[in-house]
Amino acid sequence: MSDVEKLNTFNLYIFGGTGDLANRKLLPALFRQFILGSFSDQSNITGIGTKELSEEDYLNIVQNSLQKHSDLYSDELWQKFSNKLTYKKIDINNDEDWKNFEPQSIDAVKIFYLAIPPSLYESISSKLHSYQCIDEKSRIVVEKPIGSDLETAKKINDSLSIGFSENQIYRIDHYLGKEAVQNLLALRFGNIIFEQSWSNRAIDHVQITVAEDLGVEDRGNYYDKTGALKDMIQNHLIQILCLIAMEPPVSINSESVRDEKLKVLKSLAPFDLNNIKTNSVRARYSEGVYNKEAVKAYIDEDGVEETNNTETFVALKLFINNWRWSGVPFFLRTGKRMKKKVSEIVVRYKNIPHNIFSSDAKVHSNQLVLRIHPDEGVDLKLNTKEPSVSGFNLEELPLDLNLQDYYEMGHQDCYERLLLDVIKGNQALFVRKDEIEASWEWIDSITKLWNSEDIPMDEYSSGSWGPSSSELMLSKENKKWIDKN
Ligand code: BG6
Repeated sequence: MSDVEKLNTFNLYIFGGTGDLANRKLLPALFRQFILGSFSDQSNITGIGTKELSEEDYLNIVQNSLQKHSDLYSDELWQKFSNKLTYKKIDINNDEDWKNFEPQSIDAVKIFYLAIPPSLYESISSKLHSYQCIDEKSRIVVEKPIGSDLETAKKINDSLSIGFSENQIYRIDHYLGKEAVQNLLALRFGNIIFEQSWSNRAIDHVQITVAEDLGVEDRGNYYDKTGALKDMIQNHLIQILCLIAMEPPVSINSESVRDEKLKVLKSLAPFDLNNIKTNSVRARYSEGVYNKEAVKAYIDEDGVEETNNTETFVALKLFINNWRWSGVPFFLRTGKRMKKKVSEIVVRYKNIPHNIFSSDAKVHSNQLVLRIHPDEGVDLKLNTKEPSVSGFNLEELPLDLNLQDYYEMGHQDCYERLLLDVIKGNQALFVRKDEIEASWEWIDSITKLWNSEDIPMDEYSSGSWGPSSSELMLSKENKKWIDKN
């Protein structure tokens, strides 16, 4: 248990305080930090919900969820932590509730965490504004999805900016809080050896895969109105893409990193009529086998309407129009009910310009794999000579760095880091307004064409690596997805 840093005094108000995100992620993360000793004495947490609950009822809910979701739980620690918690009922449309809501005005950072559906962001932020709950030290935290297209994203952003300035708004993309995602920065900007070859001069193509083995579970209602493109590509995969493709920022501070990410987003080549069919694949899962059990097709999941025509898998081939990346295809792929839960980036280098070995010695092109999940680490494939007294055969062998061999990984949830950064006022891992809007603009270029053109909805068996059309997208160019079998 290292990393203890005393935090400035904060009062955290969690709207959606009895909900799933609060109970599964936020409160366990806060509990851990409390145990580590980082809370100041005056810091407090208020769970806010629409139900009339007694203090005791609320504490029971939180206690139950900590017992389930925190491996640090003990009755003794809970007793101490529970002193930090209170409950407040606020029905958004009830003015009396708002009048009674007086965020404490001691010298604390007031943080309003909206762990609620985005459709409520606008009304809550405007109530906070009109009931004068906001001061210059206040912060607001919002979760994805910020909109469902450029227009709705702008509307949410505009409504947040009525009461909060941009440096008070924290838009969460939980992938940015992942240790292995941040390691991309360490790898790229802490090691000179990669920089010279990190461009179209040496790189043939890049693959980014975020595959999930689970289906939509109990989120059919939400997911069916969203789909994989908006649920995963618009945020998590695009953020990873930005970290891989951006120019070196001046420093790791919030604005430098976000300025560089924005340049990548602005350089994304929009899809058009000429390439939407060849460079995009959408599909949904059919029945199959997961964990040796038969699982149902997406259209048979609860909350799913076949007429919505929602994709659970997307593969894209895209280009970044700038000097560094001109001509280098980036292949992005994400889906539910795939073979394994895997998130990784594969950088395939070009072939050597001239083979000095015998004509039948196969020289493999180098491959760098950055693993985000599971087994966070880095794997670089190199050609080596196969030991023998005659001949000169090359073999591809790995230089494999497993972070687990050096650190105890996986104790800190990404929400813990993100909450700490909100409290400390560090916005580097949060998505800025212009980034969100630029990424929606690009996503809109895909959805518009998907809706207007005859782009097929393919199928893939649950438990597979996706539809054959996704394989074909690469094989047409003599490339293939590097799958973890
Ligand atoms: C969320 C998506 O943002 O990310 C989910 O809404 C998805 O559909 C989840 O399952 C994946 O996150 P992780 O951290 O489990 O890879």
